[in-house]
Amino acid sequence: YLNYRVPRTRKEIFETLIKGLQRLEYRGYDSAGVAIDGNNNEDKERYIKLVKKRGKVKALEEELHKQDGMDFKTDFETHFGIAHTRWATHGVPNAVNSHPQRSDKNNEFVVIHNGIITNYKDLRKFLETKGYEFESETDTETIPKLIKYVYDNRESEDMSFSALVERVIQQLEGAFALVFKSIHYPGEAVSTRRGSPLLIGVRSKYQLSTEQVPVLYRTCKLLKPFVKNRTNILKVVQNKPVCLSFYSAIIEHTNRVIFLEDDDIAAVADGKLSIHRVKRSAGDDPSRAIQTLQMELQQIMKGNFSAFMQKEIFEQPESIFNTMRGRVNFETNAVLLGGLKDHLKEIRRCRRLIIIGCGTSYHAAVATRQVLEELTELPVMVELASDFLDRNTPVFRDDVCFFISQSGETADTLMALRYCKDHRALTVGITNTVGSSISRDTDCGVHINAGPEIGVASTKAYTSQFISLVMFGLMMSEDRISLQSRRQEIINGLQSLPEMIKEVLLLDEKIHDLALELYKQRSLLVMARGYNYATCLEGALKIKEITYIEDTESSKFAYKAIELPQTVDCLQGVLSVIPLQLLSFHLAVLRGYDVDFPRNLAKSVTVE
Ligand code: F6R
Repeated sequence: YLNYRVPRTRKEIFETLIKGLQRLEYRGYDSAGVAIDGNNNEDKERYIKLVKKRGKVKALEEELHKQDGMDFKTDFETHFGIAHTRWATHGVPNAVNSHPQRSDKNNEFVVIHNGIITNYKDLRKFLETKGYEFESETDTETIPKLIKYVYDNRESEDMSFSALVERVIQQLEGAFALVFKSIHYPGEAVSTRRGSPLLIGVRSKYQLSTEQVPVLYRTCKLLKPFVKNRTNILKVVQNKPVCLSFYSAIIEHTNRVIFLEDDDIAAVADGKLSIHRVKRSAGDDPSRAIQTLQMELQQIMKGNFSAFMQKEIFEQPESIFNTMRGRVNFETNAVLLGGLKDHLKEIRRCRRLIIIGCGTSYHAAVATRQVLEELTELPVMVELASDFLDRNTPVFRDDVCFFISQSGETADTLMALRYCKDHRALTVGITNTVGSSISRDTDCGVHINAGPEIGVASTKAYTSQFISLVMFGLMMSEDRISLQSRRQEIINGLQSLPEMIKEVLLLDEKIHDLALELYKQRSLLVMARGYNYATCLEGALKIKEITYIEDTESSKFAYKAIELPQTVDCLQGVLSVIPLQLLSFHLAVLRGYDVDFPRNLAKSVTVE
């Protein structure tokens, strides 16, 4: 959402919102919508203009230009626009189900939502008994209707917008990041979160006198729920804050952000931000720091590449270099992961290591399991987060549990983290996203420093996760005399890896030719064992995710050799996965698909 204090035309407002949505589109893209002020003139009747459309953001943009009565030259001195791109959980993708959702036909309150409201059925029943008519199949629609109900029954005329929101979230169960806008509070917006990440970009031409925004505590009695609380999925994802991938929508406007904590209510009115909470509890930080993101706009642009996936495959010589930078000393063979050093003793004493993740992140753990067992001399379990939870796996206080996740927000991995914390194990995060839920909720961790990964199919995160785990093994084995020559061999291998990746990338044309021979096939079988077992899992996943070749039948294929440079056995997987990344990319393009927008996949699955 955007707030302007200098006059902007409606056209500029649209363009900024649309661009922001396009930067977020990789997270979900089945429909999109915006709500903007209809009028900026105090004397005329206020209204909120709502435009929603099924399909990609481009379709919304076209729709905006088709709308009747849109005066693109209108100036707005204070304006609040909200916009959303949706990836459906409840209800089919269509304009009615897309966000913003509204309270009524006059759009008195409109809301955008990321997450899931688990008690929406009960809320809907309650609101229907009060005469509210629902138009969508979404869980979200209960929220604007609920705030209208609270507004219509408010105890005093001058109740603030944030106080209304405060009442509303007391009734909600589930996970949410919400932004509200209302005709009753022009030029204002209120946002809040629980479980789902949310950040606020701060753009001020003045240097603020403080880099902290104080939290105001309001004493307000908790209301009785309107409906009986039944579910509580929140327990698992509730804690702490964060947001990540959403950086991309604001990075061209500001790199200064505030991460909201669960149940923070942030209100912006007349360009001023205030944050409050209902009550203060022990250990609460009484302020929210303004943090500076180390991210450049060009990092989230495609440059000369046709797709983010392709750009990210070609970035791997630099991304793995950045993963190792300042951590591996190739002169002394010392390896230091700063985020783990204070816990090293505890980790060395542990009963076993458990590495938990999903999809590609899980494969990075499979790929390094053997070398980790070898270097740490500890039992290493590698677990798919969903399966780990389904089995209620026994976890002990002296276990060390790693949570590996590019986004740091994957719901299953987060739930597994909560589970292991409940069992008092030491928890370690390995993520690519500073400030993500996993990086904040773990006791310690490693940031893989691969740079933003926008392509839905994960590529450079895999190789950086791989290298991070190898570095962990090297750090653990620093004092083991018997392992010194092996360490030396691996460290030499790490040093030459960026150059070797460049060599592998030169095979692109060959792999494109191979893809030309293969792209009409209905199935592919990817085979290997040992250190390359995980490469096959990951290569097959890439091919399945974006090319829609499914392995319904296995048959023998004519053999075609692609020769790769050889490195240390345990690092070979970093090189051999790259041709498969390239192959899946070329196959998908040849089959006519948009690789950055694979069907039915979102970049991070933040709900159950
Ligand atoms: C594969 C892919 C997904 C993710 C999985 C975990 O290309 O993108 O399988 O690897 O959803 O996501 P993170 O690593 O963000 O937890």
